[in-house]
Amino acid sequence: MPGTTTLAAIKDLRDRIDYHNHQYFVLDAPELSDSQYDELMLELRSLESEHPELVTPDSPTQRVGAEPLEGFTQAEHPVPLLSLGNAFDDEEFMAWHARVADLLEEPQFDMVCELKFDGLAVALTYEDGLLTRGATRGNGVVGEDVTSNMRTIRSIPLRVPAAAPRRFEVRGEVIFPKSKFEAFNEQRIADGLPPYAHPRNTAAGSVRQLDPRTTAERPLDIFVYSLGYAEPMEFDTHWQTLSGLAALGFKTNPHSRLVHTPNEALDYCKTWVEGWENLDYGCDGVVVKVNRFDYQRHLGVVGREPRWAIAYKFPATQATTQLLDIAVNVGRTGSINPYAVLEPVNINGVTVRQATLHNADYIRSKDLRIGDWVVVERAGEVIPQVVSSIVSKRTGNERAFEMPEICPSCDEPVVRAEGEAAHLCVNAACPAQLVRLLEHFVSRGAMDIEGLGIKQTTVLLEKGLIRQVADLYTLNKDDLLVLDRFGETSVANLLAAIEASKSRPFSRVLVAVGIQHVGSEVAELLARHFPNIDALMNASREELEAVQSIGPKIAEAVVAYFGNESNRAVIEKLRAVGVTMEAEQGEEPVEQVLEGLRFVVTGRLERFSRSEITGRIKDLGGAVSGSVSKKTDYLVAGEDAGSKLVDAENLGVPVITEDDFLDLVQSRSGET
Ligand code: IVH
Repeated sequence: MPGTTTLAAIKDLRDRIDYHNHQYFVLDAPELSDSQYDELMLELRSLESEHPELVTPDSPTQRVGAEPLEGFTQAEHPVPLLSLGNAFDDEEFMAWHARVADLLEEPQFDMVCELKFDGLAVALTYEDGLLTRGATRGNGVVGEDVTSNMRTIRSIPLRVPAAAPRRFEVRGEVIFPKSKFEAFNEQRIADGLPPYAHPRNTAAGSVRQLDPRTTAERPLDIFVYSLGYAEPMEFDTHWQTLSGLAALGFKTNPHSRLVHTPNEALDYCKTWVEGWENLDYGCDGVVVKVNRFDYQRHLGVVGREPRWAIAYKFPATQATTQLLDIAVNVGRTGSINPYAVLEPVNINGVTVRQATLHNADYIRSKDLRIGDWVVVERAGEVIPQVVSSIVSKRTGNERAFEMPEICPSCDEPVVRAEGEAAHLCVNAACPAQLVRLLEHFVSRGAMDIEGLGIKQTTVLLEKGLIRQVADLYTLNKDDLLVLDRFGETSVANLLAAIEASKSRPFSRVLVAVGIQHVGSEVAELLARHFPNIDALMNASREELEAVQSIGPKIAEAVVAYFGNESNRAVIEKLRAVGVTMEAEQGEEPVEQVLEGLRFVVTGRLERFSRSEITGRIKDLGGAVSGSVSKKTDYLVAGEDAGSKLVDAENLGVPVITEDDFLDLVQSRSGET
């Protein structure tokens, strides 16, 4: 029998872990470092393994415990999940408001404005304080039981405080954060798997995995937006419900607002028509809900749509058009990248002519054929995507796509390495690769050489002045004067920029040379473990893999890169001209003058790139988050700041410029 002290210790650990989970995953305000958190989990795991009889389903160790399922069972919804009527412009919204006012015989009534999240709707049942069921929306009446998968989402509480109703159901939307999507796809490509096109579909697919371990690997999140039912029901309004749910530990969305007039609601919609692209999750409109529940009941439901709520939809981001051709270009590492040539189509004010198709597997998995009608989507800064083909519009004249057998740039054979999704041109002297590589080499996160665009590099290549990236460093004034619109001053500036780039840190050089799978994070890891280029060049696959977070794909890519004769020649030339080839050492540790401060950065900055300023903040001990909350200490805002600025103003978060930021750093360095 375990002693009461063990029981108490286990309970104490679970409470602490739940608390820190909530701080981290729900409030985005962590108080512990990752390793401190891991330590608590480790302690709990070890106590539980000594006393398996004390393991309970609500223990934070039990988020992934369930066995894979054969199939999902049906989950009936005691109270159906409704749909929403739409308003496509201000007029339609005003018409809805007038109808409601009429039915209520009240000219004015409070409303709650919320974002309409573009994810997968779920209903979570809690009984006696524990999560007992998670179900998808399905057709609104019957969904699928996805409890084991819901348990893996860390912003979903496994248990709620004793003050919660005895039995209740919360509803919300599971989302796949945009910021995690790209890295997730990169990893899939690195693992030889086809990338996903769309965060929403990926969220939905992740929730419907039969093996909860797969779901657990996806960085899913949730926003809850209503109570399906509660016994007993303690709230009179929707606004109270939202804060009540937050008090029970649920993740509600910080952008929801209580408004009193239709104009305020329209202002909210307008803010987000302009601002939604900066959100870290899909959002396709605003939901406006009548606040008082007695009013909601009075208004009732027509068919599946409640009269008391409406979705104000944002202008479409998708359009259909014809896939005229599938062409390929050559990436900087030699990957042959197919892309869609489209009949030009206007999506939300921008003419889209091309869309990425990633690789041959992607085209096959979507069964895209040349000549197909396709659905194309454009969102934010994301490259336009082909979402699907419209099979019903086929005429029989469509053609399947075949990867070219020779490189379109250098006519050398194209190969596909085993287990890799990409087809490659392995000719190190391929001019198309070199253009891309140069473009990458001079870019901001790499050697940061201003003044060399793709046009100029193409000319330099055509004239034979550059045969590999290191040749940049032996260009002279006369070479550069051949460039269009390059006079004495711009040549002098460019030469100075090239010279200055020699002192970029070693990790940036590793990014610049274009080793497959080596981006800034991996490069920093490598530079930390291999203090100079010789150590790295001579590292074996095993030595590389011994570095935490470096897996076999990266190790292989590094070994392959340095195993290539012409790559070594590039490195030797870079070394000879004086480019940094070792990590800085013996530097004083940077003073953590921003410790404890949380920043959000928005808008276009003059002095820093986005990665530079976030890097600087983190180096100085500060934290950077993606959205403004009450916990934010400063919003650093540049030109054209959007919704984050509005949020900061609403929440009273100080807004500072880049110069203010530098002053802040300066003044805090003085203090310590
Ligand atoms: S309320 C009437 N609130 O939209 C109540 N739904 O068309 C309807 N959705 O599949 C639900 N964000 O998953 C509500 N803030 C939000 C929402 C939201 C997204 C989805 C919901 C449902 C669909 C309804």
